[in-house]
Amino acid sequence: MPKNKLNDLDPKAWLKFQKSWFIHNPPPRKKGTLVHPAKFPETMAQEFIEFFTKQGQFVLDPMCGTGSTLVAALRAGRNSYGIELNRKYAEIAKTIIAEERATLGEAIVNLKSEIVNADASRALDLRLPTFDYVLTSPPYWDMLRARGAKTQQKRRESSDLDVFYSDDPNDLGNVDDYESFLAKLIAIYAGLKPLLREKAYLTIIVKNVKKGGKIYPLAWDIGRELGKTYTLKDEKVWMQDNQSIAPFGLGSAWVSNTFHHYCLQFRND
Ligand SMILES: C[S@@+](CC[C@H](N)C(=O)[O-])C[C@H]1O[C@@H](n2cnc3c(N)ncnc32)[C@H](O)[C@@H]1O
Repeated sequence: MPKNKLNDLDPKAWLKFQKSWFIHNPPPRKKGTLVHPAKFPETMAQEFIEFFTKQGQFVLDPMCGTGSTLVAALRAGRNSYGIELNRKYAEIAKTIIAEERATLGEAIVNLKSEIVNADASRALDLRLPTFDYVLTSPPYWDMLRARGAKTQQKRRESSDLDVFYSDDPNDLGNVDDYESFLAKLIAIYAGLKPLLREKAYLTIIVKNVKKGGKIYPLAWDIGRELGKTYTLKDEKVWMQDNQSIAPFGLGSAWVSNTFHHYCLQFRND
């Protein structure tokens, strides 16, 4: 193995991560995070952080929800910052991070894990440090607002669980025109450039969106548009194989059960 400039992994762990797809079934969610409609697992986030950074480096999630990226960063021994628009999720994230810090104890006392309750489009005003890596996942357009969305049906039956993120007009999940949503999202990600170290990677976890019988290729559009600011390196496909199959379009039309997300890798060249 030549000198490892990127991470602290040994060659075997490095090679394992290089496969372009993986299966990761989220473990049961921690108490408190269930209220959030769409989080990614800390266990998966940790694998990305351990590949794209070294111990002690700085990780940013500009739309951090209930703080999965920051929990994963702590477990991996990295510093982290999260920006979250919704005050409720920002507060949940702070509580969860405090619990995680207490569990991890002495080993992480010198690490930072800061949540900022703000609009990510204002990231440059927030006095943030320089980052070595961005790991994040955006609202999948206004999909959570779609009435027929199958994944939301169970949540609707519970008064404690959010079905969408907020009513805030700055919440990207409330922009109903697809092209405006895409432009705003790209502007937020591209606007982070001054905060990123040269050659820092960004991983964006996202799905293509199905709405009204049509596909909006959100993942591919992000790849194309954000590729104008950062170098698009490739994708890693995250698959889940513990979901039940629904008979969409049975006997009449092709409608997939979509159990994969794209983890898009960009580099700040
Ligand atoms: C897919 S969720 C992220 C979930 C997160 N990865 C986790 O595991 O908890 C997207 C988040 O973006 C937040 N958001 C939407 N618009 C935002 C904005 N303009 N600035 C910051 N956060 C925003 C939403 O409130 C939501 O929590």
